[in-house]
Amino acid sequence: MVLTIHSLSNMTTAELEGKRVLVRVDFNVPLENGRISDDSRLEASLPTIQYLIDNHAKVVIISHLGQPKGPTPELSLQPIAERLGVLLGRPVQFVAESVGDLVELAVSKMVNGDVILLENVRFHAGETQNDPGFSQQLASVADLFVQDAFGTAHRAHASTVGVTKYLPSYAGFLIEKEIEFLDGAIKSPKRPFVAIIGGSKVSGKLGILRHLLGKVDVMVIGGAMTYTFLKAQGHSVGKSLWEPEKISEALAFLADAKSSATKVVLPVDHVVVTELKPDAVAVIVDGGDLSDDQMGVDVGPKTVALIEAEIHSAATVLWNGPLGIFEMDAFSIGTFAVAKALALSDALTIVGGGDSAAAIVKAGLADDMTHISTGGGAALEFLEGKTLPGIAALERNNG
Ligand code: 3PG
Repeated sequence: MVLTIHSLSNMTTAELEGKRVLVRVDFNVPLENGRISDDSRLEASLPTIQYLIDNHAKVVIISHLGQPKGPTPELSLQPIAERLGVLLGRPVQFVAESVGDLVELAVSKMVNGDVILLENVRFHAGETQNDPGFSQQLASVADLFVQDAFGTAHRAHASTVGVTKYLPSYAGFLIEKEIEFLDGAIKSPKRPFVAIIGGSKVSGKLGILRHLLGKVDVMVIGGAMTYTFLKAQGHSVGKSLWEPEKISEALAFLADAKSSATKVVLPVDHVVVTELKPDAVAVIVDGGDLSDDQMGVDVGPKTVALIEAEIHSAATVLWNGPLGIFEMDAFSIGTFAVAKALALSDALTIVGGGDSAAAIVKAGLADDMTHISTGGGAALEFLEGKTLPGIAALERNNG
C-alpha cells in the first residue's frame, strides 16, 4: 500500500482550533449484561481524541456497535459515552441520534475542546449501504473528518468511506500506528521473523498464510486448521475439524512452502478428546495420526516447546489465531503458552487482533506486547495484503 494519506499528526493548532471534527472510531466493544467487558478499543482511541481536545477542536465522535438492523436499545452507545468520559477525565455528551436536528443542535452549542458521542450509526440502514445521502448528513455537521476506526476499515460504509467524499479527511493516530506495525513488520522486519498462525478453518486463513509465505523465516501453523494439512499429507485425523474442499489448496500450499524461503512448522503432537466438553478426559497423541474417535483440541507439549524455542530465537513475532479451543480452560494451554512466551520475549511482538488479542487480554499480558491490533477481520484482511476501503478512501481523497 502506498501511503499518501494525510495524517492528523501533521496538523497544527492553527488548523484545528475551533474546527468541528467528525471522528470515526471503532467502539464495537464486547458487552456483558450491558457493561463493557474490554476497554481496549476505547483506550486505543484516546490519543486521537486527546490531541483534538488539546488543539481546541470540537470533537464529534461516531461509531457502530454490533450489527443492528434498526434502532436497538441494547446496542446504544450511551454507556460507552459514560465510560469514555471516565477515561478522558472530562464529560462526554451523548446525543441520541447520529444525524438530523438533534445532532445539529448539539454541535451548534459546542465550545472548543468539547467532546460528544453520537448514537450508533448502524441504527440507520444508510450506514452499511454506504448511502450518499446518509454520508452527506453525517458530514454536514463537521469541517474535517478523521478516520481512526481501524477495526472497521475493511467495511465500505457511509461513516468509513462515504463521508470522505464530502470532507477533507485524515488518518488518526490509531490508523497510523496499526499501519506502522502491521505493514512495517512485514515489509521490513527484524529477522528472524516468526509467524504463528492459528485458527479453526484453513479457508479463513489461507489468504494470510499465502501472503506471508516467503516473507517470514518460520511459519508455525496451529489450531484446528492443522487437521486439513495433516489430512492432506495422508494422516488420519479422527473426528477433528477439517475441510475436505480445501485439501488440494492445503497440499499446494505445502508444496509451495518447500520451494520458498519459509520453514513451515506443523504441530508434532496433539491434545485430543473423544467428546467435546470442558471436563472431557484429554490425552496426548504423538505424531500425526489420531484414532477414529479422537478429536484434536489443542497443541501438545512437544509442539509448545517447539514454538517457545522459535519465539525465543526470533527478532519479530507476528501472532494471529488461537492454537486450540482456548475458550475451554482445559484446551487453552497452547494458546496461553504462546501468550506467555511472547510476553517474555525481547522480540518485536505483534498480535493480529481477534481471538489472539482476546487471549492476551484474558491472560493479563497486554502491556507486554509491542502492538496488539484493534482489528479482528480488518487486521486479518490487512495481513492478507488486501487494501482496506476505509484507508484507501483517505488516499483517494487526499492523494
Ligand atoms: C469488528 O469488531 O471486527 C469491527 O468492529 C467490525 O464489525 P462488523 O464485523 O460488525 O462490521
